[in-house]
Amino acid sequence: MGESKRLCGLCFAILYVWMIDPVIATGREVPLLDFQRYHQTPSSGLGVGFSNLFNTIYDTSKYGNLQLNNGLGQTPQMGWNSWNFFGCNISEVVIKETADALISTGLADLGYVYVNIDDCWSSVTRNSKGELVPDPKTFPSGIKALADYVHGKGLKLGIYSDAGLFTCQVRPGSLFHEKDDAQQFASWDLDYLKYDNCFNLDIDPKERYPPMRDALNATGRTIFYSLCEWGVEDPALWARGVGNSWRTTGDINDTWVSMTTIADLNDKWAAYAGPGGWNDPDMLEVGNGGMTHQEYRSHFSIWALMKAPLLVGCDVRNITAETFEIISNKEVIAVNQDPLGVQGRKVYVEGPDNCLQVWAGPLSEHRLAVVLWNRCSEAATVTAPWEALGLESSTSVSVRDLWQHKTLDRNVVASFNAEVDAHDCHMYIFTPQAGRVSDE
Ligand SMILES: *[C@@H]1O[C@H](CO)[C@@H](O)[C@H](O)[C@H]1NC(C)=O
Ligand SMILES: *[C@@H]1O[C@H](CO)[C@@H](O)[C@H](O)[C@H]1NC(C)=O
Ligand SMILES: *[C@@H]1O[C@H](CO)[C@@H](O)[C@H](O)[C@H]1NC(C)=O
Ligand SMILES: *[C@@H]1O[C@H](CO)[C@@H](O)[C@H](O)[C@H]1NC(C)=O
Repeated sequence: MGESKRLCGLCFAILYVWMIDPVIATGREVPLLDFQRYHQTPSSGLGVGFSNLFNTIYDTSKYGNLQLNNGLGQTPQMGWNSWNFFGCNISEVVIKETADALISTGLADLGYVYVNIDDCWSSVTRNSKGELVPDPKTFPSGIKALADYVHGKGLKLGIYSDAGLFTCQVRPGSLFHEKDDAQQFASWDLDYLKYDNCFNLDIDPKERYPPMRDALNATGRTIFYSLCEWGVEDPALWARGVGNSWRTTGDINDTWVSMTTIADLNDKWAAYAGPGGWNDPDMLEVGNGGMTHQEYRSHFSIWALMKAPLLVGCDVRNITAETFEIISNKEVIAVNQDPLGVQGRKVYVEGPDNCLQVWAGPLSEHRLAVVLWNRCSEAATVTAPWEALGLESSTSVSVRDLWQHKTLDRNVVASFNAEVDAHDCHMYIFTPQAGRVSDE
């Protein structure tokens, strides 16, 4: 039964994509990548030293075809979400104080503008008119007042519901109430909806998620639409044009095992991400205490490289200097927010259990973001050969270290390596110095 459902789901996905492709594709606003220019040789006078393997290594064949056409998510969304630290223990006080803290710490200025309330904001039943009602104990002033407060700070407010009968914490869900609930969210001036997958009656997500997209659109208010069906039905295959982002995995938890497992699962869908629609490997755990500083640095670096949403999940009212140093790294954030919007991916592995890893991705202006990630249990040298990065071996590269904030070398050729602590990573921008090898 499971098998036939899966097959049927696949037929539907193919039919669905085939049907909507021409319509949405004509609406795309993102310029297609100018990939030819990446692999012209220096002798052509135009090239920047990329090899003809470039397009294979960084397959972007699905990039930018079917993004949700609401103008949002041109770069991955940034902000905060209540779940990873607070769970159900939220209130309007926590949300307001968090908005205050995003401003006072300077995180808002770095781009963390969405303040997203997760599950448990709502009463356990709808009112007599069938409307969602904020929990009167924890949100006594209501959501509209909270939105006014958050907007007054120049931030945006997000909310949570579920494409099922109930949310995961058994509050009313929005399945079959899409139009009314979307109108309610718009009337509260909300900016973002995370839409979960509990109590879904086993109805295919391809049937449950588009109605909320249409309902949000019909409100006339521009609302970021974040799909959270846990990667169950491979949303990268169908959610482009449905959501601005889609979860590719189950929930993250604050452990090294969870974080690395999820990074690998999300990597599979790299070719599908692009402006307007992002793979979502779930929210950040940085600062919640279950991983080491090195592990959190890796978590943040890889999420940034993968063009994941950067939704902080710690208590920013009480953030440590160590946590702040990680999530406020402007150079790493700039990789995540690069206008090219191509998801970086795992390009090279070696060592026991492939634990010495190179992750990389194209950036605008013919640059590469490169992460040397040591997932082994001891310090080791991680090497990135040019061949694995899609560079000609003779290409001279300028190497900028994004955690040390300095340019290490302007003329690296053939390969680059660094000694990396256990579970730590180094992150760089490589700028090929085409045609300049002989000049310097
Ligand atoms: C819930 O949040 C309040 C206010 O932030 C805090 O004082 C309390 O310790 C939290 N309780 C739990 C169980 O986390
Ligand atoms: C609704 O969808 C149309 C067609 O895709 C789009 O042009 C419009 O901007 C959308 N409006 C909102 C509010 O998202
Ligand atoms: C955390 O995630 C890992 C990997 O997915 C899983 O094995 C583990 O059971 C999870 N731990 C908790 C407490 O949920
Ligand atoms: C703030 O964080 C520290 C450790 O990081 C913790 O010991 C303390 O309980 C936290 N305070 C609050 C109010 O959560």
